[in-house]
Amino acid sequence: MSAIETVLKEDRVFPPSEEFVKQANISGMEAYKALCAKAEQDYEGFWRDLANEHISWHKPFTQVLDESKAPFFKWFADGELNISYNCIDRHLKDKADKTAIIFEKDDGTSEKITYQQLHDKVCEFANALKSLDVQKGDRVIIYMPMITEAVIAMQACARIGAIHSVVFGGFSAGAVKDRIKDAAAKVIITANESVRGGKRTPLKATVDEALANGDCPSIEKVIVFKRTDTEVAWTDNRDVWWHDIIKGQSTVCEPEVMNAEDTLFILYTSGSTGKPKGVEHHIGGYLLGAILSMNWVFDYKPSDVYWCTADVGWITGHTYICYGPLAVGATQIVFEGVPTYPDASRFWQMIEKHKVTTFYTAPTAIRSLIKLGADLPEKFDLSSLRLLGSVGEPINPEAWMWYYEKVGGSRCPIVDTWWQTETGSNMIAPIPGAFPTKPGSCTLPLPGIMVDIVDETGNSVPNGQGGSLVIRRAFPSLLRTVYNDDNRFVSTYFPEEFGHKLYLAGDSAARDEDGYIRIMGRIDDVLNVSGHRLGTMEIESALVAHPLVAEAAVVGKPHDIKGEAVVAFVMLKGDRPVGEEAQKIAAELKAWVAKEIGKIAQPDDIRFGENLPKTRSGKIMRRLLRSLAKGEEVTQDTSTLENPQVMEQLSQSI
Ligand code: WT7
Repeated sequence: MSAIETVLKEDRVFPPSEEFVKQANISGMEAYKALCAKAEQDYEGFWRDLANEHISWHKPFTQVLDESKAPFFKWFADGELNISYNCIDRHLKDKADKTAIIFEKDDGTSEKITYQQLHDKVCEFANALKSLDVQKGDRVIIYMPMITEAVIAMQACARIGAIHSVVFGGFSAGAVKDRIKDAAAKVIITANESVRGGKRTPLKATVDEALANGDCPSIEKVIVFKRTDTEVAWTDNRDVWWHDIIKGQSTVCEPEVMNAEDTLFILYTSGSTGKPKGVEHHIGGYLLGAILSMNWVFDYKPSDVYWCTADVGWITGHTYICYGPLAVGATQIVFEGVPTYPDASRFWQMIEKHKVTTFYTAPTAIRSLIKLGADLPEKFDLSSLRLLGSVGEPINPEAWMWYYEKVGGSRCPIVDTWWQTETGSNMIAPIPGAFPTKPGSCTLPLPGIMVDIVDETGNSVPNGQGGSLVIRRAFPSLLRTVYNDDNRFVSTYFPEEFGHKLYLAGDSAARDEDGYIRIMGRIDDVLNVSGHRLGTMEIESALVAHPLVAEAAVVGKPHDIKGEAVVAFVMLKGDRPVGEEAQKIAAELKAWVAKEIGKIAQPDDIRFGENLPKTRSGKIMRRLLRSLAKGEEVTQDTSTLENPQVMEQLSQSI
């Protein structure tokens, strides 16, 4: 059965309640259609009006879209603004005492800060950065735990015009080093340790390792936030404590006046080839995407208690923690811990405790919580919830139904939001007060987002037929380029095959009879493991860097909880190992990948062969490996293989 037949089996439709529709920011299908029609008729006017309505400009823009150097598009190019001003200062007039962040620590205690306090802390830290000579345009790496200070660090960079590049706290020294080097970062902000699920991770020691041997000469300072009492090694002249450098700093720091097309941040993400790409987002367009989706998709209301469970190391944490909720003046939760600590009711207990109204999480978390305690939500008062969200991978209809019934009490719309690091904000997602939802479908494109599904020649495919997901027109929050690599930007996202005109998302998708979109998966060599994006080639490169390994091929296989699991087919330089020896080497290779990239990339399954299945021209037959990984019977003719005997070897898990 093909992927599309499987997903289309669930065909129930869930309209929003009358009560929800009544209060919704976009109420009813007609309102949605009217917005879409406006975008169709006057694309630039549509975006111009929204940008004027929702953003506080220091100097208004006169030009909306500049396509003269397409696909290097510019939006609101002569406008001036500061995103930190938009996220903080503009709320101080009437919301200075409103809670901006409720920080819940791993141990269950929580602290609140108001918009005024957030302002003061951001300014203090921004001034501290300036005192270290961080200037507009400098790159700053942020390698932090999920604590309020991570948001403060990002906002402070944005305030002074420095470009942040957040590196997920689970990445290893090698990954940190690659990113520092590519960005030529001047400063890195970290913590002595992170605390998650009762466990401590030594972030500062990892930074030291990344900087060892003079490998990252661009780094001048390492700022260390003291999260725990654990002592860390110290390099005088280079390392400074967060609490020391903010001492005596003023709580006023005038926001730097920035151009709408100045770079806000670089965020590295995996692709099918090479090292992770530095996806570059610019200020004005990105901010607009964040605000609109808060209003349209999350139906933001001032009384909301909003909670996105992502980590700021990913795009979701950028747009739906650091920027979007603050830009609309929301009260939000920043959570340091994990959903399973101290037990699998943590999320439900926190929703009850903080009276969360809007809850945004990932299918992998939902699936693992179903497994660990499907009945646990019933034990808590979840009546504060009014909207649920899902992001990162397709949500299987079973998980959707459980989320809808057990968590949302069959009362809350679920917004299944499709988007990417590159798109900056939600692209295809339900407008909850307008669309009936269908389990497993991210529904329809947001107004102004010209999504299509096309065949190899770029022509739209009919409903019911699978194809490649593309976006036909540039939109404000789309990445502007790949940092330091314009060619890669063009070849990856605006490829020649579509005349450099269509944005290629890299996903396959299909529409049903109502035009509702279902995402079927990646069309490139990118895996989605627990909602995290991993390039197979990155993992292969890590494996072949091990002294024992001659060759490796990595593919994904379906996994109940993670969505996809990593399977590595490995040929050693020496003999093919068997028995205990194979187990020992497999464990060593898993630990190696964790060290090279991070634990998230560690193969779940390693299989050894005397060789890998190749065509006579020497190409690794990945399709065949995918079948082997799934344990499927190989129906393909293997007689053309140079070495058919390895098939038997590679079908065996250790
Ligand atoms: C890829 C982007 C978007 C923020 C988190 C991941 C997959 C994302 C969905 C969804 C089906 C989804 C796609 C996409 N994806 N959301 N709702 N339904 N698939 O960002 O790491 O840039 O990954 O995640 O394959 O291309 P990312």
